[in-house]
Amino acid sequence: MNDVKKALTVIANWKMHRTISEAKKYVTDLAPLIQGSLSQVYLAAPFTMLSEIAPLCRASNIVLGAQNMNDHDEGAFTGEISGKMLKDAGADFVILGHSERRTLFHESNDFVNRKVKKAIDVGLVPVVCIGETAAERDSGNTANVLSYQLRYSLAGVNSEQIGRIMIAYEPLWAIGTQQAAMPAVAQEMHLFCRRYIEDQYGKYAAEKVSILYGGSVKPDNAKVLSEQKDVDGLLVGGASLSVESFEKIVNFPNGIL
Ligand code: 13P
Repeated sequence: MNDVKKALTVIANWKMHRTISEAKKYVTDLAPLIQGSLSQVYLAAPFTMLSEIAPLCRASNIVLGAQNMNDHDEGAFTGEISGKMLKDAGADFVILGHSERRTLFHESNDFVNRKVKKAIDVGLVPVVCIGETAAERDSGNTANVLSYQLRYSLAGVNSEQIGRIMIAYEPLWAIGTQQAAMPAVAQEMHLFCRRYIEDQYGKYAAEKVSILYGGSVKPDNAKVLSEQKDVDGLLVGGASLSVESFEKIVNFPNGIL
């Protein structure tokens, strides 16, 4: 399966960082450095700056997206942002079910699932995050946790829609810890996810779906992680905050044309 590797997808997840002027400077500085890169560069920015940096991103082949959304188009949901609003502001993708949202804001698989379906409806690519805690891994429960999260986050998504989704495997023990998964562990988990998709949706869907790794990705481990057969991309938090390190992650794995 997946004999020919896809172009690598590298997503910067800024989390709650950057002002509008800082974001504009970052995109302006990054753009010339990634020109000709074989990787597809995505940027998940905070809501406030989406419409401000959308033209800059469009001009430099950076795919712009958001880090969360609500599952309704509109309504009395104080403080929430809809997928429709994200599209309107220039976003083309959205991270959903990030472990920080699941843990800190108590988002359930069911809520994530409703958002996934809404994102597809409004034309956003959902990047669906899954991952196990250290305790779940230590107790031998990783496979159960991942398949449960996949089953309920993707419930009702059909085999045509699954091709428009990305899955991000982000083990919680690797996020922000400087302890990325060993490449062989990432490969094993990505293969597990791909087999799950194959079982549910068939071989074609399993080959088409992109499975990204996230958790302490840095310039010095990006290459080896991205060389793993079933790693189609990287979701980068801390190391995406500086243009210098993010550019290295984007360019090292595939090289510059
Ligand atoms: P770090 O790269 O800072 O570990 O964060 C990973 C992450 O949560 C990306 O979504």
